[in-house]
Amino acid sequence: ALQYLKISNRRLQIGKASANREERQDLLKQKGLTIWLTGLSASGKSTIATALEQALLHSGVAAYRLDGDNIRFGLNKNLGFSPEDREENIRRIAEVSKLFSDATLVTITSFISPYRKDRDLARKLHNEAGLGFVEVFVDAPLKVVEERDPKGLYKKARSGEIKEFTGISAPYEEPEKPEIHIHTDKVGVDQAVEEIVSYLKEESYIK
Ligand code: PPS
Repeated sequence: ALQYLKISNRRLQIGKASANREERQDLLKQKGLTIWLTGLSASGKSTIATALEQALLHSGVAAYRLDGDNIRFGLNKNLGFSPEDREENIRRIAEVSKLFSDATLVTITSFISPYRKDRDLARKLHNEAGLGFVEVFVDAPLKVVEERDPKGLYKKARSGEIKEFTGISAPYEEPEKPEIHIHTDKVGVDQAVEEIVSYLKEESYIK
């Protein structure tokens, strides 16, 4: 095994040939985990995820957000919205978020993830690897999200123009025991972020 490396005229003491998670966390002074947001379209997942990422970054915590924009147009661009494709979408996201967490990032995922078994698989993958997993139910009644309808998708789903739309013509299975439950028809984004950050501090994920 390597003992020393000389890099840029600094002699670095190297414990092992490859870094393990504990060493990585010690050196980077940060623990990785995944914060898994789930909820209907237009429930507020992206808004909360974006604000949470900003809040963490501004307090010096390396955080990274996975969402439809960087996943469904890249890694998962061959997937649609059938039950099988959603399952595969979530499986890949679970694996990627596990890797990012292992790399000590606070990883924030923002996907409908409508099936309980798929979210449970994501949790299991993290737990088995000794990584934190915090499920956040971003909850707003269907009536409310349908009124919001920022992209007009609910309207199209009602008219049948979009098939298998979550909440209308495809299922959404609510989390039974999420670590955090946010009612976005009652609390604003600031309070939602505050709640998540407090939880992370209480559980000693961040300082
Ligand atoms: S899933 O179920 O977790 O695989 O979905 P996700 O990757 O989060 O993608 C949801 C966004 O895709 C748009 N969209 C649909 N959503 C639900 N059902 C159907 N049939 C559908 N078709 C397209 C929709 O804009 C979702 O965006 P958000 O940001 O959640 O509103």
